[in-house]
Amino acid sequence: MKLWGGRFTKNTDKLVEDFHSSISFDCKLYRHDIRGSIAHARMLGETGIISQEDAQTIIRGLREILADLEAGRVELSTEAEDIHMNIEQLLIERIGDVGKKLHTARSRNDQVALDTRLYLKEEIETIARLLVDLQEAIVEVAEVHVDTIMPGYTHLQKAQPVTFGHHLMAYFEMFQRDWERLKDCYKRTDVCPLGSGALAGTTFPIDRHLVARELGFSKISRNSLDAVSDRDYIVEFAAAASLIMTHLSRLCEEIILWASHEFAFIELDDGYSTGSSIMPQKKNPDVAELVRGKAGRVYGHLVGLLTMIKGLPLAYNKDLQEDKEALFDVVDTVKKSLLVFAPMLRTITVNKARMLQGARGGFTNATDVADYLVKKGLGFRDAHRIVGELVLYAIEKEKNLEELTLEEFKQFDRAFDEDVYEAISVEACVKRRDVYGGPAPQAVLQAINEAKKVLKSNRDAYNEKLR
Ligand code: ARG
Repeated sequence: MKLWGGRFTKNTDKLVEDFHSSISFDCKLYRHDIRGSIAHARMLGETGIISQEDAQTIIRGLREILADLEAGRVELSTEAEDIHMNIEQLLIERIGDVGKKLHTARSRNDQVALDTRLYLKEEIETIARLLVDLQEAIVEVAEVHVDTIMPGYTHLQKAQPVTFGHHLMAYFEMFQRDWERLKDCYKRTDVCPLGSGALAGTTFPIDRHLVARELGFSKISRNSLDAVSDRDYIVEFAAAASLIMTHLSRLCEEIILWASHEFAFIELDDGYSTGSSIMPQKKNPDVAELVRGKAGRVYGHLVGLLTMIKGLPLAYNKDLQEDKEALFDVVDTVKKSLLVFAPMLRTITVNKARMLQGARGGFTNATDVADYLVKKGLGFRDAHRIVGELVLYAIEKEKNLEELTLEEFKQFDRAFDEDVYEAISVEACVKRRDVYGGPAPQAVLQAINEAKKVLKSNRDAYNEKLR
């Protein structure tokens, strides 16, 4: 008979049993479920709701079940519906009637909320660590390339020369925001819902703080109806994860472009590329493509979760069971993507000569020619027009700006002088952009030094469990 079978006269239809069972996926929560139950049983004993002896018997039973599950010595059953009832049923099978006392002053509704929060807290810690690893890889590669000149783009058209170190450090900033979002979302996950019961708390004199403390929560929830129906923390996490995937995906897109024959700015390590079954010459950036592709499925889960929740009246509804597959898949996808990304990045080979060559063509120094004229006393708008005409002329002559003779420059404005050449070399263009936050090697070095401090504080924070 089902644990809830008392008011039923017929068995659940087999189809329904398969349909509503969640054990195939929520089995992932067994450790958290048992941890939560042990804390609950201990509290029941401490408060005298059950005897200390019964509490100890229950705790011992739960520990054995945990050990057996870890060792693969027990099977979970679909008939027992979900992880919570599976474990309770196993407990009763093993320790008899005492096991039936575990669910006193508790409901699966506050139990499942507890389990997913315990699970997510752990996973956010892991993901935060992976994110910091990736940031470290970015800083490492950026440091080697503080003065590696490359073209910067807008509209994927060459714009102004930058440094590869600066380009990479842009991603450091994105991931730092992601890190902060994770930390923030952790705060709202770190709330213990146990004691909210099915929806209306309990009549037993439980000690919610005791349970929360034992399970390492810094707060307890304030409203029982909210606590059993709240999945905001999962949505927030999926949103934070979506942005992580967005940033990974943008970098993937660049890596794919840079690794192409047309750009040839970088080469991926053989260990992080794959071949073609038909074209022998191919070396494909599959890892980057796959991460880019996986971003879509994480977004899908975010929208799925939001949609799942939006029409639900308070408090618990079975719809909420749908949160888990989405959450688990988001966690797994983000973890796998981050894990493979850092070593892929660390092992790229940078073709500095190609990058420099790329920075040279395409009139990337046109703004600097205009700036040059401004420093000679022209208004920027006039300078802009003159250089525009100069570019048009250079295109006709099939020359770069720095290849024009001084005579040619002077035809466009008398202010041009011999010093123009020094002023508009790509090296000078980059070096002079030493404004705070700019691409000049000096500015990038400063950014890297600041980033290292940020990384240290990130590491300290996750050592302190993100509190
Ligand atoms: N398996 C359920 C879930 O994941 C547990 C809570 C079930 N509660 C209930 N009243 N049916 O949401």
